[in-house]
Amino acid sequence: MTTQFVEAKPSERQPLDGPKAKGLRRTLRLLRLILRPTDYMEDNVRRYGPMFQIGGDDSPPLVYVGDPEVVREIFLLDSSQVSTGQNNGIMRAMVGDHSILLLDGASHQRQRKLLMPPFHGDRLKAYGQLICDITRQVSASWQPGQTIIARAPMQELTLGVILQAVFGLREGARLAELQQLMSTLLDVFAYPITASFLFFPGLQKDWGPWSPWGRFLRLRERLRQLLYGEIRDRRQSLAQPHPDSTERSDILSLLLQARDENGEGMSDAELHDELVTLILAGHETTASAMVWLLYWIHFLPEVEQKLRLELSDLGSDPDPMAIAQLPYLSAVCQEALRIYPITPTTFIRLLRSPMTLAGYDFVAGTALMPATYIIHQRPDLYPEPKRFRPERFWERQYAPHEYLPFGGGHRRCIGSALAMMELKLSIATLQQRFELELPRSRPLKPTRRGLTLAPPASMKIRVKSKR
Ligand code: HEM
Repeated sequence: MTTQFVEAKPSERQPLDGPKAKGLRRTLRLLRLILRPTDYMEDNVRRYGPMFQIGGDDSPPLVYVGDPEVVREIFLLDSSQVSTGQNNGIMRAMVGDHSILLLDGASHQRQRKLLMPPFHGDRLKAYGQLICDITRQVSASWQPGQTIIARAPMQELTLGVILQAVFGLREGARLAELQQLMSTLLDVFAYPITASFLFFPGLQKDWGPWSPWGRFLRLRERLRQLLYGEIRDRRQSLAQPHPDSTERSDILSLLLQARDENGEGMSDAELHDELVTLILAGHETTASAMVWLLYWIHFLPEVEQKLRLELSDLGSDPDPMAIAQLPYLSAVCQEALRIYPITPTTFIRLLRSPMTLAGYDFVAGTALMPATYIIHQRPDLYPEPKRFRPERFWERQYAPHEYLPFGGGHRRCIGSALAMMELKLSIATLQQRFELELPRSRPLKPTRRGLTLAPPASMKIRVKSKR
């Protein structure tokens, strides 16, 4: 069977042609994708259906995959059939050459094996209380009548969880500086215009400390110094453990002790790049999801009421694990990640050879992009897809290729369980402590934040009362 999807071409009326015109079209397309990512996808779906192709004339095509059956088959492919790391080069400037995001094949598998254990099972349970405590710390100063930009405390919270629970950093000047530095670093790309620096390498010029890229490079260098300092100190304390010190089980300690089949440990450069990757992959994404949750819960009063009722059944000092299992709270978190997934697509899968997937033929080199947003908006899977309705997750079980906020297959997000736990515990803790409201109750659409989609940076919440 031949491919049935259509190429997304500009309007017939467009008089442009030739290589210059193609270049211009590419830039305009990229700008629309950067500035209005969800409109960009919806327009193309309306015109061409859920599978559409970009380019393909002088280079292998990029295909947005909105057909769940094709996604199912893509998620079954392994690294001998597809590569991903080489396409993630856009993130190199942030995460460095050794990051898991940029790896493929055996080195990717090895890194996943090293990184995954601290994100699962009992390890994860141990972070529950910490997440509740950090939520309380972050909201300690909130007072009735106060209006707060939602993003800042949510980001402080998720960064605190990564640095304290995952890296084992507890307190001190280094933790404080890392916290401050990471927030500033990520804010460099927080707006659609500055996010363009990631997409257009030509803009990545150091014009001094006040230019966006120059500022980014200087912040990145300071971050490098801090992380190398932490790695050095931890190596020293592992080599000469203090008699009173307890065994540490955080990811940095585990990575420092990890050895490959040749008995080699990770170099400082490798450790550094993985640490930056975990901070970046785990903190912005989860913070955006939390802000969406605050929005939906307070935009739709019936959602808030149902949540309060569910939480009240657990009493005044519930066990974090009991909170994590609440069915309505879980469904609310799932629905928030469905309606506006934080990453509108998964990573690209680049085909190493020609392939037929679910009846579609693809040439070697095709870049396949499972389009999470398109799939999550399919009315055949999610009736009334624009409506926020958590109950849909009770009425139907969704397969991994139908509900994919964390991607799937051999690149599936390694922090998904931690992220879900953070969402549930921090939202429940805030609900128990405060009555919140939106000062301006109006529908919001996602905006670009770096490589992800987020609620508008200006979204505010107001503290109505404290409990
Ligand atoms: C709501 C929060 C989050 C969302 C929506 C999210 C989403 C994703 C997605 C879509 C991918 C790509 C998967 C694919 O292409 O199949 C991914 C990969 C990844 N995520 Fe997450 N993520 C979140 C939180 C986290 C956290 C908390 C961590 C760790 C601290 C993390 C670490 C990673 C890593 C290391 C990868 C790369 C995996 C690989 O290349 O093998 N993420 N994430």
